[in-house]
Amino acid sequence: MVLFAGFTYASCLTTCTLLLLLISAHTSTAASFASPWLRDVPLVETSLVKRAPNTTTIPAPIVVAPSQYWDGIDGPWSSFALQVGTPAQNVRVQISTASTFTWTIYDGGCPPGYVTDCANSRGFLFETNKSLTWTPNSIFNFDFEVNLNMDTTGNAGFDTATLGWQGAGGPTVSHSTIFSIKSSTYWLGGFGLNPRPTNFSTFVDPQPSFMQQLKTNNTIPSISYGYTAGNQYSNPPVFGSLVLGGYDQNKFDPTNVSFPFYTDISRDLLVNIQSISTNTSLASTNLLPGGTIPAFIDSTVPTMWLPVDACEAFEAAFGLQYNEALNMYLVNDTLHSKLLATSASVTLTLSPNSTSGGETVSITLPYGAFDLTLKYPYITSPNSSYYFPLQRGANDTQYTLGRVFLQEAYLVVDYDRQNFTIAPCSSHGLDATNADIKTILSPDTVLPNSGGSSFPTGAIAGVVVGIVILIAALAAILWFLRRRKHTEKRRVAELEAKEAGSHAEHSSENESKPFISNPIGGELGGGEIHELTAPHKPFAQEMESPHKIDPNKAGYSEMESGEYFGPGKGFAHEMHGSGPAVFEMPGSDVHEMPGHGEGHGLK
Ligand SMILES: *[C@@H]1O[C@H](CO)[C@@H](O)[C@H](O)[C@H]1NC(C)=O
Ligand SMILES: *[C@@H]1O[C@H](CO)[C@@H](O)[C@H](O)[C@H]1NC(C)=O
Ligand SMILES: *[C@@H]1O[C@H](CO)[C@@H](O)[C@H](O)[C@H]1NC(C)=O
Ligand SMILES: *[C@@H]1O[C@H](CO)[C@@H](O)[C@H](O)[C@H]1NC(C)=O
Ligand SMILES: *[C@@H]1O[C@H](CO)[C@@H](O)[C@H](O)[C@H]1NC(C)=O
Ligand SMILES: *[C@@H]1O[C@H](CO)[C@@H](O)[C@H](O)[C@H]1NC(C)=O
Ligand SMILES: *[C@@H]1O[C@H](CO)[C@@H](O)[C@H](O)[C@H]1NC(C)=O
Ligand SMILES: *[C@@H]1O[C@H](CO)[C@@H](O)[C@H](O)[C@H]1NC(C)=O
Ligand SMILES: *[C@@H]1O[C@H](CO)[C@@H](O)[C@H](O)[C@H]1NC(C)=O
Ligand SMILES: *[C@@H]1O[C@H](CO)[C@@H](O)[C@H](O)[C@H]1NC(C)=O
Ligand SMILES: *[C@@H]1O[C@H](CO)[C@@H](O)[C@H](O)[C@H]1NC(C)=O
Repeated sequence: MVLFAGFTYASCLTTCTLLLLLISAHTSTAASFASPWLRDVPLVETSLVKRAPNTTTIPAPIVVAPSQYWDGIDGPWSSFALQVGTPAQNVRVQISTASTFTWTIYDGGCPPGYVTDCANSRGFLFETNKSLTWTPNSIFNFDFEVNLNMDTTGNAGFDTATLGWQGAGGPTVSHSTIFSIKSSTYWLGGFGLNPRPTNFSTFVDPQPSFMQQLKTNNTIPSISYGYTAGNQYSNPPVFGSLVLGGYDQNKFDPTNVSFPFYTDISRDLLVNIQSISTNTSLASTNLLPGGTIPAFIDSTVPTMWLPVDACEAFEAAFGLQYNEALNMYLVNDTLHSKLLATSASVTLTLSPNSTSGGETVSITLPYGAFDLTLKYPYITSPNSSYYFPLQRGANDTQYTLGRVFLQEAYLVVDYDRQNFTIAPCSSHGLDATNADIKTILSPDTVLPNSGGSSFPTGAIAGVVVGIVILIAALAAILWFLRRRKHTEKRRVAELEAKEAGSHAEHSSENESKPFISNPIGGELGGGEIHELTAPHKPFAQEMESPHKIDPNKAGYSEMESGEYFGPGKGFAHEMHGSGPAVFEMPGSDVHEMPGHGEGHGLK
């Protein structure tokens, strides 16, 4: 209001009227398109609701390359590379769809004279005392695979973990939960894909998962993944495939069956097996005589755990003999040759529906999928044997479809929407170079408009009308002020000096922008450019005060900076840039009132 001190009452009246006209013209224009462009961008995807307030760049899914090694004493299985600690130690791990944490083997897991080439056989050791960043916690139970009596203990702690080999640029989490174990319950280390927090035993002290931290860090577009275990019996062998935040469409034949998560969150990936059949001519082809059972899909364990009557049907169909001591079916060379020659296959029919009807998906496993080898120290005499990866489950808390099943099935899990898809692996997915990566967007992601062509015509008309009104109003003001200019010259100079100091931050960013096009351009571009292009991030950070330069805050800053495109402020800047005559009058007034008001309104 200081600005108006020297004006006569009459001139103020005229000016203010013009000013109000200008403001209302601008804000009403802005309002007509501010909604679709700044908040609720209209989309093809109906499920998308609202933009996360500070997530502005949508990251691409991450394709995690397999280690290209075949590992395990119950496999062979395709493993994945993981770097842990500082400096990084390279280990090979199995993917665990059930685990919420990572576990690695320490040197206690390879005592002298244990197994030839023990460290390599176990995927290499992570020596926590050689890592500068290891933060030990305590010894805890895994509290994991308890139903299968496969719980174990480890030294829990935190360290930096990066997926993939060194130099591959895989995703990093700096404070990741890691259990360091020596037990042979799990021969290799494991990488947990489950995003639930890990609780250290009795303590209610939830530690965020690797997946959750990637999402929080805006490294993946959603808490979702696509995974298949790969197999060694295809020619050539197919390595495992893992995509975080999406899936590889080329790896499977699409189905239209989606499974909801099971209510028990520790068995979320629960399917109903409606039937199991085989085309072997040896005996009955029905391998699930007791009818539909629930089963948990879990890549942590190698085998399938099925009801006893189903196991007996397998025994009859394949001539298997149960080994009570191991709870395992060993296969001798004679039987092995015979089964290879029959080339039988087993088909599992899965459904979200626990009765016999509903939508189903069928996964067929050739005998090769069951043609696996147990090694020392799992078995000792003989110290190596073929085995059939089937185990007897006591009750439905134990029924599990392990890694053997995921050799022929592709799993897509979406933790944001709490559902998953299981689909047969496709034969054309054998070629690893032929990936077709699809993104799964988080439900709170709003896509920017793909281009100007999709703007509603009404909004375009609004913009055009707005520009015309703006130009007319500004011309009127310019004309009016120019008449007064010579009498006010000294005052203008004074005010200019003051304003330059108090609004340096804003004017610096407007200098390069042409008159009028700034607020319009900002608003049109705001939804698009700011959301998609990374180069705007550092820019947005610069606008913030130095203490806010934090990678996690980048998006937030960006949205904040977006507010200066808001109607009030945009107008204010425009007036700043337009020359002394205009500057003099509305500058302070407009900037203080609508500028701040609009700014808060947008948040
Ligand atoms: C790390 O601990 C192991 C015993 O667990 C010990 O043999 C080794 O010397 C230690 N290494 C260092 C660098 O302290
Ligand atoms: C976020 O991701 C970047 C890039 O991968 C990584 O350097 C950084 O350590 C991550 N931040 C956290 C907190 O894990
Ligand atoms: C840990 O506890 C929290 C709540 O206390 C729970 O939401 C979460 O699912 C638990 N995590 C696991 C792995 O049990
Ligand atoms: C699922 O896909 C099959 C073809 O694969 C089609 O016959 C069936 O109608 C589809 N079901 C639904 C519910 O879309
Ligand atoms: C191989 O195993 C089958 C049953 O699994 C058994 O009938 C057969 O006698 C065994 N052969 C030899 C040579 O041990
Ligand atoms: C079973 O089916 C598979 C294809 O699904 C076929 O390759 C195999 O020869 C069949 N085996 C018998 C015994 O019919
Ligand atoms: C399961 O299948 C039965 C028989 O087709 C049907 O009546 C029922 O609605 C289905 N339930 C679900 C949850 O799809
Ligand atoms: C397995 O046993 C054979 C002879 O019985 C022996 O030569 C071989 O070294 C053993 N392998 C392992 C891994 O212990
Ligand atoms: C299922 O079987 C396991 C192993 O025998 C047993 O520990 C558990 O109590 C059983 N659960 C139920 C619900 O019967
Ligand atoms: C989850 O459900 C949505 C619709 O509710 C569906 O579009 C999506 O494909 C499902 N995702 C999976 C992985 O099944
Ligand atoms: C987003 O902003 C909220 C506060 O509005 C903050 O708590 C959160 O950490 C921010 N997230 C990121 C990824 O910057």
